[in-house]
Amino acid sequence: MAEGLKIGVLASGRGSNFQAIIDAVNAGKINAKIAVCISDVKDAYALDRARKNLIAAEFIDPKACKGRADYDEKIIEVLRKYDAGLVLLAGYMRLVSPVLVEAYKNKIMNIHPALLPSFPGLHVQKKAIEYGVKFSGCTVHFVDTGMDTGPIIIQAVVPVFPDDTGDTLAARILRQEHRIYPEAVRLFAEGRLEVRGRTVLIKEPPESPDEFLVNPPVRG
Ligand code: GRF
Repeated sequence: MAEGLKIGVLASGRGSNFQAIIDAVNAGKINAKIAVCISDVKDAYALDRARKNLIAAEFIDPKACKGRADYDEKIIEVLRKYDAGLVLLAGYMRLVSPVLVEAYKNKIMNIHPALLPSFPGLHVQKKAIEYGVKFSGCTVHFVDTGMDTGPIIIQAVVPVFPDDTGDTLAARILRQEHRIYPEAVRLFAEGRLEVRGRTVLIKEPPESPDEFLVNPPVRG
């Protein structure tokens, strides 16, 4: 798994998480190649980021497809063309159909700007504030057929302050997203993620202790 892993990214928007992963790959922190970025939005900035980094950029027009499954068949075709072994949803605004989930079982990751299982769905930073939570954060998880329900890989926590707006909280969470998403990808690339039911086990590296691991299991 470690050698030769190729990554396919699905993005609909600005792609700042995509950029964080590009940067981590370029810095040699992730032993993988980003092979392609696919978007359902023709002028998504994520596609520009791909082109700037000499990564293949492909727009697949949802209007040219009959439905979600048909659209995802086209996505699978492109992912296979680039030999992707890991698929990253990075601000991808479409629901993924069972066709795609089955084709890449436990090989699709998503980043969500809340502490799942709280606040799945959209506009969750604002919803967290309205609910009155004192902490929120972000979650990297494998994608299953539900909405934001797949096995959790890494989470990071941030405080919510009384004067926060959706935007200020989103910015605080985003900084953590840019930290934990590349980390989750790195663990995958190193073959260290094992899915057991709902739980993702993070295996120790074969030799030296893992200095980057953010959430080591604590016994106490
Ligand atoms: C992020 O907040 C991510 O958690 C959510 O959509 C947003 C995408 O931002 N899924 P970006 O396109 O990566 O900048």
